[in-house]
Amino acid sequence: MRAVLLRCGAVALVAVAGGIGLEISAAPEAQRPVTPPTFYKDVLPILEDHCQSCHRLDESAPMPLLTYEQTKPWAQKIADAVQRKMMPPWFADPRYGHFSNDPSLSEPQIAEISAWAAAGAPAGDPHDAPAPRQWTSGWSIHNPDVVAKMPKPVEIPASGEVEYTYEIVPTHFTEDKWIQAAEVRPSSAQHVHHAVVYIRPPGAKWLRHAPVGEPFTASTLTDPEERREAHETTSDLLLVYAPGSTLEQWRDGMAKFVPAGSDLVFQIHYTTNGHAAIDQTSIALRFAKSPPQQRVITLQLNNHALLIPPGADDFRVEVQGTLPNDATLLSLMPHMHLRGKRFEYDIVRDDGSVETLLRVNYHFHWQLSYRLAEPRILKAGTKLRAIAWYDNSRRNPHNPDPEKTVKWGDQTSDEMMVGFFDVAVPASMDKLRYFIRQPGK
Ligand code: HEC
Repeated sequence: MRAVLLRCGAVALVAVAGGIGLEISAAPEAQRPVTPPTFYKDVLPILEDHCQSCHRLDESAPMPLLTYEQTKPWAQKIADAVQRKMMPPWFADPRYGHFSNDPSLSEPQIAEISAWAAAGAPAGDPHDAPAPRQWTSGWSIHNPDVVAKMPKPVEIPASGEVEYTYEIVPTHFTEDKWIQAAEVRPSSAQHVHHAVVYIRPPGAKWLRHAPVGEPFTASTLTDPEERREAHETTSDLLLVYAPGSTLEQWRDGMAKFVPAGSDLVFQIHYTTNGHAAIDQTSIALRFAKSPPQQRVITLQLNNHALLIPPGADDFRVEVQGTLPNDATLLSLMPHMHLRGKRFEYDIVRDDGSVETLLRVNYHFHWQLSYRLAEPRILKAGTKLRAIAWYDNSRRNPHNPDPEKTVKWGDQTSDEMMVGFFDVAVPASMDKLRYFIRQPGK
């Protein structure tokens, strides 16, 4: 709870400073009428900055929160969701790390929303409203160089589990490309739990006999080996999309590499919500203006050997790896399934001391990527550890079967233990060369 205390401390400091200001320049606090926060003046700016990215038409959230009329009926639920820190979705333990995409509300903002709801959600004066936020319905990437859509739509049923769906989209690039920014947009955002876009270079064996330009699932592949390997590839990731994902924009001098003739392989996990739908996900790309010094690759720490006993409520699985070369750590993205409870990334030093980079109180519905506020240089030889905890007990409301011994598998009723992480390495290096250890290191 250290950081929370620190945060309260900071708030207290601000209040004290304000108090001093008041004593000198204004009437004492007690004599001023206490007016509750209002929608237009106090709440709407928070919604614009922290909620509307998802809570507007055609985005992932179930209801828009753009106007007073839309928001008022939800006032109590909103107060509840922000107090419990369920909204905006962010599950990093605040004691560890700082992340540039942390959307969390501050304690004063949470207090403001709570006081507003408690006062009966007053509208206030529309003149106090901030300028409406301009949400583009199109791409956030300015002038994308390429927009590619999955050629054939995917039909999503109204109910039941949908197996991971793939669609292979040829890039037709005739030369190598460096990607500075990438963005994924499903056409039916409410059905997309997450999507991964892989870069399949020409000549790669992965899914070589699978159809191109139409949706398929692993179980429909005729080659048993290909069926097994559908979920395991050495192909690099271009990006991962989850509800609320913003565009992925790599820093100047860093970019993802797509060799000429590559295909993009979309792997999408659709979830059902009572309404059948059709989805045709697209991707927009912007090329780097000049070749970067560094290439961004996605690595992973995983442990396939997990075996979670029935009923275990805090089962720990660990994996450790040593970086073969220097790398700059950019972001972290844990992946587990329905029994996932907590996930942690650490640096383990030779003297046994541990530095925790991220701890996530895992929530299966939110596959978030945690982008480091400051990229972190990790020397060759750095030991990275990932630890995952699983709840296979009856108390886990998402647990499909507490009687089961759970193994690795791609269905959500099986488990996974993957700690993805993005690093920047010299531009001349690819994923395979990164793993060749330099002499003497
Ligand atoms: C990253 C996208 C995203 C952001 C940002 C976001 N929400 Fe949500 N919100 C959702 C989705 C999706 C759901 C429905 C699924 C769920 O409840 O987890 C939801 C559900 C809710 C609910 C619950 C509705 C119910 O049925 O009880 C409330 C209330 C809510 N959001 C308020 C907010 C507020 C207030 C903010 C900003 C402070 C916010 N959300 C930010 C995506 C988002």
